[in-house]
Order: sequence, then C-alpha cells, then structure tokens
Amino acid sequence: MRIMETPFIFGKIATEKNFTDREVETTCLVQNFTSLTNTIIISPRRWGKSSLVNRAAKAAMEQDASLRVCHIDLFNVRSEAHFYSLLAQKVIAATSSKWEEAVENAKNFLSRLVPRISIGTDPANEVLIDFDWDAEKHDPDEVLDLAEKLAEKKGLKIVICVDEFQNIAEFTDPDYFQKQLRARWQRHQHVAYCLYGSKRHMMTEVFTNASKPFYKFGNLLFLNKISTPYLVKFFQDRFADTGKTIREDAANLIAELVDNHPYYAQQLAQQSWLRTTDECTVTIVRAAHAALVEQLSLLFVTITETLTTQQLNYLRALLAGEKAISSTETMHRYQISSSTSVARSKAALIKNDILDNNAGKISFQDPIYAYWLKNEYFV
Ligand SMILES: Nc1ncnc2c1ncn2[C@@H]1O[C@H](COP(=O)(O)OP(=O)(O)OP(=O)(O)O)[C@@H](O)[C@H]1O
Ligand SMILES: [Mg+2]
Repeated sequence: MRIMETPFIFGKIATEKNFTDREVETTCLVQNFTSLTNTIIISPRRWGKSSLVNRAAKAAMEQDASLRVCHIDLFNVRSEAHFYSLLAQKVIAATSSKWEEAVENAKNFLSRLVPRISIGTDPANEVLIDFDWDAEKHDPDEVLDLAEKLAEKKGLKIVICVDEFQNIAEFTDPDYFQKQLRARWQRHQHVAYCLYGSKRHMMTEVFTNASKPFYKFGNLLFLNKISTPYLVKFFQDRFADTGKTIREDAANLIAELVDNHPYYAQQLAQQSWLRTTDECTVTIVRAAHAALVEQLSLLFVTITETLTTQQLNYLRALLAGEKAISSTETMHRYQISSSTSVARSKAALIKNDILDNNAGKISFQDPIYAYWLKNEYFV
C-alpha cells in the first residue's frame, strides 16, 4: 500500500501547491522588493504573513538577479545585542556565496567589532556570526549600515525582512532604539526593509503614530483572510491531487466554520480529508470540526480561566451579535457594570489577542475559540 502524504499543511510556511490567493499582495510585494520600497505588513497571527513574504522574496529574486533578500525573525530576540548580531549574520549570509567570502565580508565590513565566525562543515550550512556586543564600547551604526555598504560594494540590492517586528517594544529603550534604526535606515539607497508582525495594535502604533520614529516609514499592507472562492478551489484541487473529491457545499462549509482563517482552513481540511475515503461531504466536515473543537477545548478552558467575569460578559454579548453593547438595556441583560467596563474589557481582550480590531470592526482572532465559547461554554 502506498502511504499517502496529506495534502494540507499548517504551522509551516505555505509554498507552491500549499499556497493560494494573495495574488495582488504578491505582485505588490515583488514590486516593492525590486524597487527597494519599504513595506510594513500587519495581520493577526497565522494569517499568512511569513508565507506571503517568503513567496514574494523568491519571485522577486527570480526576476532580479542582483537582488538578495534576507529574513530575520525577532520571535526569540529580547535584546538589542541579539538583534545586531542576527542582523550582521543574516546580511553576510545572504550576500556571500561561499564561507571564505563570508569571512572576508565580516572582516572588511565589521572592523570595529571582533566577530566570532563559525561555519558548519556542510558548505550549505548557514554562516554563523556572533560577537560580544558591548553597548558601552560599540556604536551600532556599523552593523546598521552593513547591508548598505555590502550592497554598494558588490552592486547588489538587498531587502531585509524583519518578522515579529513588534518584539522590539520589549527592548530596554525601544523608542531610542527605533530612532537609531530609522536614522540609519532612511539613508540607505541600496537596501529596503520589509517589517511585519502580528500585534495589530502595537504595529499600528509604531507605524502610524506621528510622534514615533517609524511613522510613514513605508507602504502599509494589512493582510486579510483568504476569501471563500479561493479556499473552495484550493480544497477541491488538493483533494483531487490525492484521488479524492470534496463536494462544493462541504468545501464552503470548511471556509465558513473557520471564518476563512488560513491556518484553521488547512487544519480542518486536513481533518476532513483524513476522514474521507472517496468523497468528502458536509457530514464529514461537521464531524471533523467537532473533533477539532474537542481537541482544542482544554486549551480554551485555560484561556478562559485568565479572563475576568466582566470580560466574559462582554464576549457573550459580542457572540450574541449585540450591536449596541454599551446601551443600558444590553449592559443590564449581560450583567455588564458600565460603559467604562465595556471599553476596558474590549481594550484588554484586544491587547491579549483574543479579539481583533480591524478599523473599528471587532472580531475574534480564533474562530474555533469563538465557536467553543458560544456553543459549549456559554450554554
Ligand atoms: N496563502 C496561503 N494559502 C494557503 N494557506 C495559507 C496561506 N497563508 C497561510 N496559510 C496557512 O496558514 C498557516 C500560517 O501561515 P504563516 O506562518 O505564513 O502565517 P503568519 O501570519 O506568519 O503566522 P505567525 O503569526 O504565527 O507568524 C500556514 O501554515 C498555512 O497553513
Ligand atoms: Mg510568521
């Protein structure tokens, strides 16, 4: 018997056949990359930022042989020192084809710092550069300008992509740090930046507040979820690739149950696919969805335990589709103490990534959590 790979992926970068939609966004990003325009991408978690940037970076480098794109993920980065060493490492790796070249570049362009360079025995391995960063002794401009100098010297264009950019808010003096970055980066002629992250409120604050250093730094792109027609076609194609089919109403139901959330769309499609012998039906999708909710319910209990009663009352009103939650009557019905409480709950839930505020439209970040609250917790 042939062991069949499942046709859906989630929690990894979606590429090629696993990737759908985002045509407009990809074209726009490729243009920004090749024309060295700074870009800022904002969307809640798991909506496909990394996948989109990865795809656009590949396409842009195919179009333009002098373009190099490097990716820096700030997910685990909590200090400026770590940031600078990562930046140097990635820029050198992206512009050096051999390790000899990497060593040369590090020596020539990082004169004031003494880097420790280690290279894996496998030539395909990334070059690892590290240095003892001492803020007292070193001025970070050398690292901040490294990409520009290398690009100029080698006749290259460089795009530096920084994922989870909102993490710089956790550095010791984030405003000062941002000022330094902005001051150097805005002078670069051969380098562009693509900064993206998932905390909508923080990212929006950093890039749209006129008093912040990164105000109007580049094109702002708010990523949306994936629209139903794309998802339906995607599910049908992926089922067909493995010799199975999915009915159109079943494919639509997957999109609806996950509220078009890209990650969950793939996860629920996967669960449905696993339950399907030949043709996936609405009944199968419903069973898969129930199993998914069940599987996540322990996690949801934990999340719910962290919420206050007022926050839960607010969520209950929201899930019931109440439009005017601050009206006296609605507050009374849901035992909400005051309109101040509504505002406070809303702000806290957005800050904690339970809710998303998209230009005033409030929605749940996690569609399965919303379903669980409504159909299991509040009943
Ligand atoms: N264009 C796409 N087509 C199909 N599925 C996608 C697409 N983009 C994202 N996904 C699905 O969503 C998942 C998360 O994507 P990705 O990691 O790119 O999102 P992200 O916004 O970077 O997430 P995070 O906030 O966790 O960094 C992928 O593993 C995949 O299942
Ligand atoms: Mg990501």
